[in-house]
Amino acid sequence: MAPFTGLLARFMVASLSASASNNDATIGSGGDQYIHAKENVERQGLLHQCFRQSSSDAFSMSGILEASQHHHNNDKETFRVLEIGCGAGHTTLDLLLDVLPDHCHITAVDADPKLIASAQTRLSSQGFSELQQKRVTFQHQTGESLAESMAGQFDSVWVRFVVVHLPDPLAFLEAAAECLKPGGTILVEDIYVPGATSLCHPPLYAHTFFHEMHTKASRKLGGDLTRGAKIGDYLQSLGSLQNIQCNTFAPIFGRGVTVRPWTSHSQSANSSRSQENTDTSTNRFNLGWSLLEQSLASLMPKLRELEVCTEEEVSRAEESLASWKREQKAKGDDDERTCSYQMFALPDGTVFQWWATRMET
Ligand SMILES: C[S@@+](CC[C@H](N)C(=O)[O-])C[C@H]1O[C@@H](n2cnc3c(N)ncnc32)[C@H](O)[C@@H]1O
Repeated sequence: MAPFTGLLARFMVASLSASASNNDATIGSGGDQYIHAKENVERQGLLHQCFRQSSSDAFSMSGILEASQHHHNNDKETFRVLEIGCGAGHTTLDLLLDVLPDHCHITAVDADPKLIASAQTRLSSQGFSELQQKRVTFQHQTGESLAESMAGQFDSVWVRFVVVHLPDPLAFLEAAAECLKPGGTILVEDIYVPGATSLCHPPLYAHTFFHEMHTKASRKLGGDLTRGAKIGDYLQSLGSLQNIQCNTFAPIFGRGVTVRPWTSHSQSANSSRSQENTDTSTNRFNLGWSLLEQSLASLMPKLRELEVCTEEEVSRAEESLASWKREQKAKGDDDERTCSYQMFALPDGTVFQWWATRMET
């Protein structure tokens, strides 16, 4: 069998040694079903960069942002937000803390204690003010177990890119909805990856491989990558939610042509930490490409554990990425006006953003 090489091999060694020394890696059913390697915090950072703005837009569209501002004007108590599956806290610290007004408090939980520890470290070491630090609580807990201690406590609940991975999405969403106060809003975002085709032109084996293996491994773990489109059905079946709405978009990355962003605006208007506008088509392409590489790497330990592919297939995928990079370098392909045409989707398909309100009684 061909040995694992390069990025994938380095990542596998790190993952295997970390899991051997971590007996307390998960609690409940949530964490150990998770398909991507927990140690790949970099991947979660890239994921967040790709979808930060579209999630920020969803906070506006769903009315959560307005409700949080209104709450303050009416001098009510703290507006409380719960984030479930916060990972290493990129979403919490770079989006919720930034976008929501100062009087909001955020409780962010994840099934993986290592990711919660990493989020906590980020909060205490990355220059957040004392007020900002007081506004966030990170907690190691599975979504399914939250209703016991947090029922009826939150004005808003947010879940992004978690539901497709779960063996029992309905139990998870039921617990999430129970955490809402009457009149509170739940916002759930996830992907819909249909069938076995992969949108990548010109075709690249690594892209097809990622797409097929992600779907295959996810199924073996009880996940379903088409759940993004079914979340509305789950929310409705709970019977406690009303006014169910959704927004969808296809995250397509391209270069050699200008691909318009899928967000309503390229930077958050009220962001205190906004940088200059760097959201060009090429920057987005490069970001998406790095995410593809990291996603492939972080999928590897589970693919091997579940025996869904051969090591020859892995080597072929890695070689296809490496030769693509060599080609781009040889062409000097970094000028937006002259670079060669390439287009791909990650995830392959559509992102769904669903929101609903908890009934008053
Ligand atoms: C793809 S990451 C998404 C992270 C973050 N929400 C984002 O959008 O960038 C999925 C996260 O869900 C967490 N997770 C998986 N199952 C869970 C469960 N049952 N309860 C809470 N968290 C869970 C994983 O540990 C992981 O950090």
